[in-house]
Amino acid sequence: MNLQNLKRVDPEIYDAIINEMEREQDKIVLIASENYTSEAVFEAQGSVFTNKYAEGYPERRFYGGCEYADVVESLAINRARELFGAEHVNVQPHSGTQANMAVYFAMLKAGDTILGMNLSHGGHLSHGASVNFSGMFYKSVFYGVDRETGLIDLDEVERIAVQHRPRMILVGASAYSRTIDFKRFGDIARKVNAYLLADIAHIAGLVAAGLHPSPVPYADFVTTTTHKTLRGPRGGLIMCRAEYAKAIDKMVFPGIQGGPLVHVIAAKAVALKEAQSDEFKRYQGQVIANAKCLANEMIKRGYRIVSGGTDNHLMLLDLTDTGITGKEAEIALDNAGITVNKNTVPYDHRPPTITSGIRIGTPIVTSRGMKESEMLEVADMIDGVLKNAKDDPFIASVRQRVRALCKRFPIY
Ligand SMILES: Cc1ncc(COP(=O)(O)O)c(C=O)c1O
Repeated sequence: MNLQNLKRVDPEIYDAIINEMEREQDKIVLIASENYTSEAVFEAQGSVFTNKYAEGYPERRFYGGCEYADVVESLAINRARELFGAEHVNVQPHSGTQANMAVYFAMLKAGDTILGMNLSHGGHLSHGASVNFSGMFYKSVFYGVDRETGLIDLDEVERIAVQHRPRMILVGASAYSRTIDFKRFGDIARKVNAYLLADIAHIAGLVAAGLHPSPVPYADFVTTTTHKTLRGPRGGLIMCRAEYAKAIDKMVFPGIQGGPLVHVIAAKAVALKEAQSDEFKRYQGQVIANAKCLANEMIKRGYRIVSGGTDNHLMLLDLTDTGITGKEAEIALDNAGITVNKNTVPYDHRPPTITSGIRIGTPIVTSRGMKESEMLEVADMIDGVLKNAKDDPFIASVRQRVRALCKRFPIY
C-alpha cells in the first residue's frame, strides 16, 4: 500500500495505520465478525468517490454529476440481487444496525411488539435489546436457546409468537453456531401474521456460497452487514420483496440517512463480484471446515462448545467449568497474540463485562490461507494458554509460535 502522502501530511495517523497493519499481520485473529478484505476492495473504498454527494438513487438523484455514481450503485444492486436471488436490494445502509433500523422504521410504529433472539443467547443488540434504539422504540420479547442442547427451540419460538403476537419476528444471530431453519421461522411468522426479518450479518458469505440455506424465499426482509463472512467493506444492505421496495428505499433516504457513501458502495460492488466466483465458494467451504476442525479439537481436549459443535464459521467456547472467565481468557490469549472476544454463554451467571465464554471464528485465518493443520496448531496454543494463563514465560513462548505461524501466511 502506498501511503507516502499520508506519511508526509499526518504522521500520527500514518503510524497508527502501519501499527494496525502489523497487528493484523502478526496476530491470529479469531474474531468471528471480522474479516480481511481483498486489496481490490481497499482500492475501491479509497477512491475519488469519497468526494461525491449522490443523495437519492440511480437516475433519481438530488445532485448533478452522478453518472458514475449511478454506474457503481447499479452494479452493486444488480450483483447483490443475483447473488442472493432477492427481488429488491438497497445498498446504502451505512451499517448492519442502520439496515435493521430502516426496516423497523419503514414497517412498524413506535410501541409495536418485536420478537428477537435474546442478546445473551447469541442475538444482536439491534434485535430489541433495551440499551439499543430497537428496545427503546418497540416492545421487545425474546426467544433463546434450550439450556441442554444449546439449540433454538422452534416450538418455544412458536409458543412465544402465539402468546405475544409480534408485528415483526427477527431471526439471525451474532453468536449461534448452528444452521438456522428460516423456513420454520417463515411458517411461524405467517401463522401470527408478523413480518419476518432475517438478519444474516454473520452468515451472508455462507449463504452467498450456498453453504447455508437462504432466508430469501421465506423472509419479507433480509438484512446483512457486508464486512463479516462476505469479506467486503464495513457497511450494510437490505433485501426485500418487491412490494416493500418503495417503503424501504424511502426510509433509508431521506428517512434515516443523508448522502450515500459512494466509495463504500463501490467497495461493496467489488466484494459482491468476488463473492460470485468459484474461489469464494471454496473459501467459504474452508471457513466451515476450519471451524469444525477447531471445534472438534477443542472438544477432544475436554472443552465444552455450546450446542456441541458448529455448522458455520464460529463457535462459543464455554469456560464455566475451567476456572478461567471469558475476560481473563481474552486477555491471556491476546498477550499470546491470539485475538478473540469474551462472550456470554447462554444462561451465563456472569455479567457481559466478565462472561463465561469466548467466541471463536475462522473467517480471517481462512482468508490468509490457513487450513486444518494450522487449526490443530491454533487449538493446541489456545488450550495451552487457557491452562497456563498466569505463566508469563509460557505465554511468551506461545507468542513466538504465533509470530512464526503468522509469518507463513502474509495477509497482503
Ligand atoms: C446479527 C448482526 N446484526 C447486525 C449487526 C450490526 O452490524 P453493525 O456493527 O455494522 O451495525 C451485527 C454486528 O455484529 C450482527 O452480528
